[in-house]
Amino acid sequence: MRAHEAGALHADINNRGPAWLRTPEDVNALLPTLWPRSVTRGADGALAVAGLSVRDIAAEFGTPVYVLDEADLRSRCRDFRAAFPTEDVYYAGKAFLCRAVVRMIAEEGLHLDVCTGGELATALSAGMPPERIGFHGNNKSVAELGRALDAGVGRIIVDSFTEIDRLTALARERGVRPRVLVRVTVGVEAHTHEFIATAHEDQKFGFSLAGGAAANAAFKILDEGVLELRGLHSHIGSQIFDASGFEVSARRVLALQAQIRDARGVELPELDLGGGFGIAYTTQDDPATPQDLAKRLRKIVDSECAAENLAVPHLSIEPGRAIVGPAVFTLYEVGTVKDLDGIRTYVSVDGGMSDNIRTALYDASYSATLASRASGAQPMLARVVGKHCESGDIVVKDEFLPADVQPGDLVAVPGTGAYCRSMASNYNHVPRPPVIAVRDGQARLIVRRETEDDLLALDVG
Ligand SMILES: Cc1ncc(COP(=O)(O)O)c(C=O)c1O
Repeated sequence: MRAHEAGALHADINNRGPAWLRTPEDVNALLPTLWPRSVTRGADGALAVAGLSVRDIAAEFGTPVYVLDEADLRSRCRDFRAAFPTEDVYYAGKAFLCRAVVRMIAEEGLHLDVCTGGELATALSAGMPPERIGFHGNNKSVAELGRALDAGVGRIIVDSFTEIDRLTALARERGVRPRVLVRVTVGVEAHTHEFIATAHEDQKFGFSLAGGAAANAAFKILDEGVLELRGLHSHIGSQIFDASGFEVSARRVLALQAQIRDARGVELPELDLGGGFGIAYTTQDDPATPQDLAKRLRKIVDSECAAENLAVPHLSIEPGRAIVGPAVFTLYEVGTVKDLDGIRTYVSVDGGMSDNIRTALYDASYSATLASRASGAQPMLARVVGKHCESGDIVVKDEFLPADVQPGDLVAVPGTGAYCRSMASNYNHVPRPPVIAVRDGQARLIVRRETEDDLLALDVG
């Protein structure tokens, strides 16, 4: 519930911060789970990524800037591949997509999920093999579906009866037989440490399981015989740490698989359990490793298949956040520090809700550290805010920074690889920051900074 015009966070006057936030013994220490794997604090006290100082990054590329540790991203792809060697791992491109990242995940053996024509165009222009692309979305246009068929994408996850009809007509025109999965809404809602299993599914995605639409969609595709039905798909939420949501969804979706077999004599060969695997944003998060996840998901699917007397289908998953989230931090410069006598200290940085909307949108928690130097000052509870004309423009609600933080310092916020640049806006006509990839001490620009000329180029009135 929003208690305040500017968002619930704004009304939360509590200068001690949340109960889980402890005063750090060493305000310069880096918690390894929060940071890209190559990030260290160097001898001069400044953070370095793959050996490159953030001071050099700021000097060359300016701030704010999203800094991607390329080796970290690649190692997370490899961890998922190693944990799921016989399954398919689709990177969910909505988390963050650009051509360089498409090439990285393709080289590391991942598949790719896209959910709009723009994401599909980015994937294809970077040379992603189309047969390794899955196409999602609850409102794919006829043009987008036609383009996906012409490109030869590997699978389309159908989401409505209208889409089935559209795709069937397009497939007939082209004389092709696209592979499809049916997106099933299983009545499980999972976020972070909680999940809710319900009988009804009040959301825009997928076909209702409880209402019978999912079974009818599968029957329609099988009976018409134009599309090739490969399997069922479910995605239950985001930032999930609790595997029991997957257990309930797998049970429900495999019961539908058995119902389809009993009604039509067909055992669908594939099953996709979606993404949503949680990452660490703060000290309170303790994510599972891909190995743990693989073990748990396989156990769930094996036992449900045994219970339904089904052959175990070929599994796929769709992690987005867990691949790219921890690989990136955002580097900002501090512009002002405002101490509201005993209420709170506001540290304003040169970006904000235009480069990270998640705090305002989802009440997400982040961490931050003073990045350009180490400090011997006492820890001070601070709120890191942006430069936008909005009171809810908060980047990090509560974090301990050294009490001597000052204008000109660099502050880094880890875990910003997923749903930050991809959800970035031009609010207040602030140009969106660049993304740089750092590898072996070298930085390269992979998405350039937007300029005022870019903004004005669209303004043709
Ligand atoms: C269908 C589907 N798959 C995968 C994902 C990726 O989720 P995450 O980035 O949390 O892993 C999403 C996110 O919304 C999704 O809707």
